[in-house]
Amino acid sequence: MAKDLISVEGMDCEDLREIMDLARDFEEGRLHGTLSGKTVCLAFFESSTRTLVSFDLAARRCGADVVSLSEKGSSISKGESLADTVVTLDMLGADAIVLRHPAVGAAKLASRHTSASIINAGDGCGQHPTQALLDLYALSDSLGGFDELEGTRAVIAGDILHSRVARSVIPAFQTAGVEVALAAPKTLLPLEAEVWNLPILDSVDEALEWGADVLYMLRLQKERMTGALVPSVAEYTKFYGVNKRHLRAGLKVMHPGPVNRGVEIAGDVVLDEASLIAAQVGAGIGVRSAVLALATNAVEAGVAA
Ligand code: NCD
Repeated sequence: MAKDLISVEGMDCEDLREIMDLARDFEEGRLHGTLSGKTVCLAFFESSTRTLVSFDLAARRCGADVVSLSEKGSSISKGESLADTVVTLDMLGADAIVLRHPAVGAAKLASRHTSASIINAGDGCGQHPTQALLDLYALSDSLGGFDELEGTRAVIAGDILHSRVARSVIPAFQTAGVEVALAAPKTLLPLEAEVWNLPILDSVDEALEWGADVLYMLRLQKERMTGALVPSVAEYTKFYGVNKRHLRAGLKVMHPGPVNRGVEIAGDVVLDEASLIAAQVGAGIGVRSAVLALATNAVEAGVAA
């Protein structure tokens, strides 16, 4: 893996497999202490629960010193630029900076100002590569192995327009051999969806007709919407929400969290055995440990047993 993880684009199937294998090693406790002597800075300038906590635990369990920074309480709130903040963290000895920021391109920009590894933990509607990696981990685990991903059919459903998760999950799934289709209202599809050249379906029912093995539901991101992009939430739920009626043998339901219960996913589906949501969250620590270790050269790709 390169020094920075800005996006999953550029990774091939072997790169993905290596991260999965290494994540398994971390999970099984074989590589504890690998980040000992390293400093990891968590710079989260946008809200987060699972990404922040799992990066924090990943770094600590691997023996790193961890420092956390948020907008409130840091000099960002006094108007310090992102570039100056990153230079400061670099001078204080950060080996890796995990960055979440509301602006697309923030992680790329930060990487130009530091020799520390920049790990993109979400840049606006841009990318969220470690989410896609942990999703692959959780999905391959539930299918019985990484090779089982080949030919699996996944439908990414919902608010694709505002989703950095979709922009990372789509290429990551495709690289791993998953066949991908989208299900979203036209108003929640980005312009770039045309060049993705993927089947576009009009409802969860159509996704099932297409043969989806996986429904990957996205949160309706009301905080990023500037106008009325759906006629009403009830109308949206009718076509793009998953409920118990949709579940069938073998179907898996994924969601990066946080969920809007009763909007894109019914509460009883979240808890159903079809749901991989808990497994997705659970995969976060191992996968993020692997990413931190590879990016900072604490382990070489290929050391995984
Ligand atoms: C997502 C995010 O923040 O990009 N959540 C996450 O990291 N697990 C998705 C979302 O906010 O809907």
